[in-house]
Amino acid sequence: MAAASQDLPADLPVIRVRDLSRHVGERVVLRGWLWNQRGKGRLWFLLLRDGSGIVQCVVKRDAVGDDCFEAARSLTQESSFSVWGEVRADERARGGHELVVEGLTVHQRAEGYPITPKEHGVGFLLDHRHLWIRSRRQAALLRVRHRVAMAMREWLDAQGFVCVDAPIFTPNACEGTSTLFEVDYFGRPAYLSQSGQLYEEAAAMALGRVYSFGPTFRAEKSKTRRHLTEFWMLEPEIAFADLDEVCATAEGMVRHVLREVVDRCEADLADLERDPDDVLAWDRPWPRLRYHDVARQLVAWQEEERYQSEFTPGDDLGAPDETVLGEEYGCPVFVTHWPAEVKAFYMKRDPEDPSLALALDVIAPVAGEIVGGSVREEDEAELRRRIREHDLPEESFEWYLDLRRFGSVPHGGFGIGLERTVSWITGVEHVRECIPFPRTIQRLTP
Ligand code: 4AD
Ligand code: MG
Repeated sequence: MAAASQDLPADLPVIRVRDLSRHVGERVVLRGWLWNQRGKGRLWFLLLRDGSGIVQCVVKRDAVGDDCFEAARSLTQESSFSVWGEVRADERARGGHELVVEGLTVHQRAEGYPITPKEHGVGFLLDHRHLWIRSRRQAALLRVRHRVAMAMREWLDAQGFVCVDAPIFTPNACEGTSTLFEVDYFGRPAYLSQSGQLYEEAAAMALGRVYSFGPTFRAEKSKTRRHLTEFWMLEPEIAFADLDEVCATAEGMVRHVLREVVDRCEADLADLERDPDDVLAWDRPWPRLRYHDVARQLVAWQEEERYQSEFTPGDDLGAPDETVLGEEYGCPVFVTHWPAEVKAFYMKRDPEDPSLALALDVIAPVAGEIVGGSVREEDEAELRRRIREHDLPEESFEWYLDLRRFGSVPHGGFGIGLERTVSWITGVEHVRECIPFPRTIQRLTP
């Protein structure tokens, strides 16, 4: 191959596919991998992908000569190469541009790339996740994921939030002891963080409005399309906030995310066959429902045989219940004022009905719960009682109780799962495709 490769012309700008529109009529260099190719006779089309897009490169034997033409033809799927020539605007071409090739250099010829255009089973694809992420849909998903995370942070930044990172090795549980990953921390037990919340509460008392964003871990035995054992969560925490303010923050932030994804990920949504209007349809005020009203409604729908579920009032919502809510409202809904028994120890009780927690979940169509949050119990004695009731080791929460001893104030916050949010927005139903390298109960590789 080397014989057919030509030296890169040093005088040409090296650009990326996404920037082609700014170089129409100019000669440029593109670098990337072969996504696909076709052609016949004296005309060959190379589809080059460079991570920012895919462009058709037109190779004419008469223009480039036999050696270069043969080099182009001999490229295999995922071979890496650089190519140069003139950028031409062309309505019919993918992305509206093509490159009229003058020469190319092969970096490496790939032999037997395992993921071919034919259908593969998802197990096979997940085993080859390190390569699968090169495919069009998967790369689009990763770009949308990036945009979702950026947009969340931008919105919070504009509202004066400060990102405060929470530790991953933690001495105690935040979200119940049944899903803790224990690790040996120099001879004593430590747990991988289930949530940064307790630390964000400390940070909120220092900085007012804060959030953490990082990986969180749950030893979930669930094999559903919504559960990962390692997922990314963004957790805002707000001093002096009540339930309304926590809800407004979640809604404001996520609606900003929807607009940003539609504005900036047009091509990615197209690759994912997602209609932007469907996404924008959720950019309207979200209904705020109380748990007991929802429970009544669900029971009525079961009786009418609208759907089937084992739900009875007092239970947490299951997948069928979340699904039917999504169908009914067609947009995310808040479910607030939950029975305290199904919620975490730190949640404040409703002063008007202490059997209820001032908790909120956001249930999104198809994806289910994307946000969970609450107002936090701010009274030391009450919180201590809860810690005991939940059989949590009191001594490892002394630092947390300090927050209620030194200038305790009403406060609240929420956590939003990045993968569930991406899954919801893109319509890709399984969260394992919404994280670069998924970790589930059955999967630790690649
Ligand atoms: O409802 P969760 O458990 O809430 C908390 O962890 C709170 N401490 C957050 C807070 O108030 N700061 O989790 C929050 C969100 C869920 O709504 C969901 O989006 C996501 O985290 N999540 C998961 N995502 C993927 N796989 C799992 N196993 C998940 N568990 C929760
Ligand atoms: Mg939850």
